[in-house]
Amino acid sequence: MPYQIPEETIEQIRRSNDIVDIVGEYVQLKKQGRNYFGLCPFHSEKSPSFSVTQDKQIFHCFGCGKGGNVVTFVMEVEGFSFYQAIQFLAEKSGQELPDSVSNEEDNLTKDSHDSLKAYEWLTKLYHHLLRHTKEGKEGLSYLKERGFTDEIIDTFQLGFAPNTKDFIAQFLEKKGFHKQNMVKAGVLTINDQNEFLDRFRGRVIFPIRNHIGKSVGFGGRTISDQKPKYLNSPESELFQKGKLLYNFDLARSTIRKEEIAVLFEGYVDVISAYKAGVLNGVATLGTSITDSQAKLLRRYVDTVIICYDADNAGINATYKAAKLLKKVGCNVKVAQLPIGYDPDEYISSYGADRFKNEVIQASDTYMKFMMKYLRKDYNLNLEGDRIQYVEHVIDEIALMERPIEREHYLRELANEFELSIETLTQEIQSRRQKIVGKQDNPKQNSHTKVIKDFRQSTKKLMPAYHNAERQLLAYMIHDGSIADKVKDELGASFNIDEHKVIVTHLYAFYEEGNDPNVSHFIETLHQTTVQGTVVQLAMIPVQQDISDKEINDYIRIILSEQSDHAKIRSLRAEQKLAEQQNDPVKAAQIGMEILEIQKRIKNSNH
Ligand code: GTP
Ligand code: MN
Repeated sequence: MPYQIPEETIEQIRRSNDIVDIVGEYVQLKKQGRNYFGLCPFHSEKSPSFSVTQDKQIFHCFGCGKGGNVVTFVMEVEGFSFYQAIQFLAEKSGQELPDSVSNEEDNLTKDSHDSLKAYEWLTKLYHHLLRHTKEGKEGLSYLKERGFTDEIIDTFQLGFAPNTKDFIAQFLEKKGFHKQNMVKAGVLTINDQNEFLDRFRGRVIFPIRNHIGKSVGFGGRTISDQKPKYLNSPESELFQKGKLLYNFDLARSTIRKEEIAVLFEGYVDVISAYKAGVLNGVATLGTSITDSQAKLLRRYVDTVIICYDADNAGINATYKAAKLLKKVGCNVKVAQLPIGYDPDEYISSYGADRFKNEVIQASDTYMKFMMKYLRKDYNLNLEGDRIQYVEHVIDEIALMERPIEREHYLRELANEFELSIETLTQEIQSRRQKIVGKQDNPKQNSHTKVIKDFRQSTKKLMPAYHNAERQLLAYMIHDGSIADKVKDELGASFNIDEHKVIVTHLYAFYEEGNDPNVSHFIETLHQTTVQGTVVQLAMIPVQQDISDKEINDYIRIILSEQSDHAKIRSLRAEQKLAEQQNDPVKAAQIGMEILEIQKRIKNSNH
């Protein structure tokens, strides 16, 4: 058996992790009928064609064809090996794996592995120094002065790197780390005399955790006027600033629940907001938001509230982030802080309640923000500027997808500038033809249409026997007694090779005493392509009370496609069955058929 994890343990872990919950941590799912739908995490799409079926514990994407159970999902979405996926799910459901299996190599390079270990040690060490030692005192009083509580310090694993020359270097050496690797990992530096020195000195440490809560980098804030203000870990395989979001691991469940994420600029802002009860905050890592971060957020939520600093740089960054988030399909809102404030300063001055009610809750819509933002480039007392401004705003409104939204902002614009709504509407229409043009159509692609297309296309292209095999397999997957019947009459004599593989495994699965269970069954298949096919088959609608006759018809269609000898063999079996069922007419008919074939074989041999 692969991976040496007992079958029952895997089974147990799979059962304790509902696929809807697990997928729900990565994809915003909406229930439609018996299934859940969302945007596929494995390919880029704007309308949901990714579905999860709770009673079968499987997922399937009608767009890209990926499918599987909860284990395969985690493997795909996290890039985990089978073993890692099992371990990850075991941790989630609070189960323990036997020690003997917990040291399989994962697919990180050796260096990244070391680096991950070093970050784990240093996160603990820096935190300990801050909380319990005199070396950490100055860091602790700095944080206390800024209003950080012990609880917050623990939650975010904040730490302090004392201003020492090589304390960390020695610590890492004692732990057996290769110093050159630790330079690459960004926790040590090397000087002209080839000495290894601590990289973070006299800084408060903000561990940056990846989405599964492991430290992969540090942000170190000086507590004096040292430059730079924040020293961050360098980019590496583990620490990719354009892909990570600070605090995503802790915020994820609230983001899911509230269906809103709040995007900040700084670590401190995220933490202050958390303290103020805004638990769904994340931040980029000192760089502007990237396409991949925007898409990551989009997979989880419809709405993102941007809450950046209210200074020039912050407002310009807001404009860029808003455009990007809108482009990937988010409903964007923008929190407004008084000029000069950042979220952390606002919370310190005005308190948690006002932050929640007057900043987060009261966020501007995307268009409202754009109208305000674009205004700064024009002097609206001048007629020429006014016209240009209105045109600029119309450009933005034309990009909005919902007619009702467009109308709302057109009215606002019409009122403010005393223009007729008809004129503005005309302007919009001509722009939409140019800008959006043909793009309007794909929007109508609701997932039901995708599914219909998918079903039709697969049906249309397939010969009858192929369809029959699929239908029959669907029944066999759902019903062990049908599988038994088919085994007796057809064995593995399916025409499509992949189907042969599937039935062989399916027979074995039932022979081992398992009950019908797709999610469990696909575990026994080690090829992902076959797993995908099984999931597709399991999604084919089946009747509860299919008659033997219908099953026989499928079998017959399948047989009619086979080589003459195999055909004779199975006709004989059918003939025998007819005799047993006291149907001499049918038995005779089959006998004739057999004779026909035998004659044909003889003739072609001469
Ligand atoms: P405090 O000053 O501690 O309140 O932090 P802040 O969040 O107000 O900082 P600021 O708005 O200046 O910066 C926001 C984010 O940009 C920080 O969280 C860092 O990730 C990043 N950042 C700020 N200053 C520097 C710097 O000097 N170097 C680098 N690499 N990143 C920085
Ligand atoms: Mn600040």
